Amino acid sequence: MPPTCDIGMIGLAVMGENLALNMESHGYTVAVFNRTTEKVDELLAGRGKGKKFVGCHTVQQLVDALVKPRKVMMLIKAGPAVDQVIEELLPLLSPGDVIIDGGNSYYTDTERRTTEVEAKGLLYVGTGVSGGEEGALKGPSLMPGGSPAAWPLIKPIFQAIAAQVGPNHDIPCCDWVGPRGAGHYVKMVHNGIEYGDMQLICEAYLMLKEALGMSNAELYDVFDQWNRGELDSYLIEITRDIFSVKDPETSNDLVDMVLDEAGSKGTGKWMSQLALDLGVPSTLVTEAVYARYLSADKEARVRASGILPGPANAKFTGDKKAFTESIRHALYASKICSYAQGFVQLRAAADQHKWPLDYGRNAQLWRGGCIIRAKFLDRIKEAFDRNPQLENLLFDPFFTDAVKGGQDAWRDVVATASNLGLPVPAFGAALAYYDGYRRARLPANLLQSQRDYFGAHTYKRIDRPGVFHTDWLSLRKPPK
Ligand code: 2AM
Repeated sequence: MPPTCDIGMIGLAVMGENLALNMESHGYTVAVFNRTTEKVDELLAGRGKGKKFVGCHTVQQLVDALVKPRKVMMLIKAGPAVDQVIEELLPLLSPGDVIIDGGNSYYTDTERRTTEVEAKGLLYVGTGVSGGEEGALKGPSLMPGGSPAAWPLIKPIFQAIAAQVGPNHDIPCCDWVGPRGAGHYVKMVHNGIEYGDMQLICEAYLMLKEALGMSNAELYDVFDQWNRGELDSYLIEITRDIFSVKDPETSNDLVDMVLDEAGSKGTGKWMSQLALDLGVPSTLVTEAVYARYLSADKEARVRASGILPGPANAKFTGDKKAFTESIRHALYASKICSYAQGFVQLRAAADQHKWPLDYGRNAQLWRGGCIIRAKFLDRIKEAFDRNPQLENLLFDPFFTDAVKGGQDAWRDVVATASNLGLPVPAFGAALAYYDGYRRARLPANLLQSQRDYFGAHTYKRIDRPGVFHTDWLSLRKPPK
């Protein structure tokens, strides 16, 4: 049989299957394969019945079904499985063919795989795919990076299946991100920002619920209101909806029946670890990861709750409506700091790896399809359009003003949380970052003095260049 397929999909778990269905619905013929081949038959007999799929029971069959240059996309478990499938594909493919990894691979793996696959004369793409099951089916955010020559080959399919944004719904949330692992790095930062957004929303929830004593019905109304303003976003919207859902078993509000132990899959941790390696302060994602870890220690927390005292008063006594508005300001200002940190980290990584990233377009890739989709990203795109070299979002006049407008309220929320004994680590980390960043002089002069005192680590001076060491011990005031 002559090859008829535009693209091949390996891995028919929910993401791979939905992406294949999405491609097919845009007019492409898709060859499909899964290690457990029953899944191929299930797709062809079920959701894919009567559609332009070619079911394959071996990788060789899949390769044979593809029009050249062949494009093979893998949606399989990240890690060694990706290397195994690449090994299997390489002898079957020809120079100029493209292997695409759409999983959540660690970006250094993608850097390595791009180099290895290119050395064999083939092209490699590591693409971020965000939007969960529904996004994959109806329009995800796609963040491809890898061999630049692969982009023109996959661009029509990728941009057709991606979410579309803009007034005319014709700007695809998919564009070439950069060489080698750039796409997977951008996806990781997306996930880290998602961690920050979710933690910030949870802290707002804690304050509204515990300090103000709001019911779930009231919380629904607050998030509904917030979703009409500058916080308008997918995550605020689903948070609102959550407060309306009843547990089918008990008829209680389902959110109250959910155990408060958070899980994680590791992309937030990666971003945090890489921020430490780069020497950039991505404190929001780090606090968000730690907050999940702390939550997971439920048994110890329950014991500690009966032992460790907090403040006597745990309820806010002022104007409830005004404080609700203050919490909204705290959330928005903290979110700005979180995105500012995310883009600072992206820039540092881009400098390190020589990736020519377009930050405004990156923000636009997240405008639709993905979990952090929000109107707010238009403001970020505009900021980078005004100044593509923007060092920190906080320097853009729009964001400077936005934080200025909300900062008294933000401070009030962090101070009140502290007084009431309510943990808001991400609100606090954001405010500390803001206050640290805007200080011309930090106490690091004392820190350098300490380092030089005990370890002769040397210091620089404010009045002349050079590196200095002082024998602090001999010059100190003798102790009494
Ligand atoms: P399976 O259905 O045969 O388990 C998500 O786990 C997807 O990755 C599934 O489609 C799964 O196939 C696939 N997968 C996991 N490990 C794999 C491997 N080593 N080779 C091929 N596919 C793999």
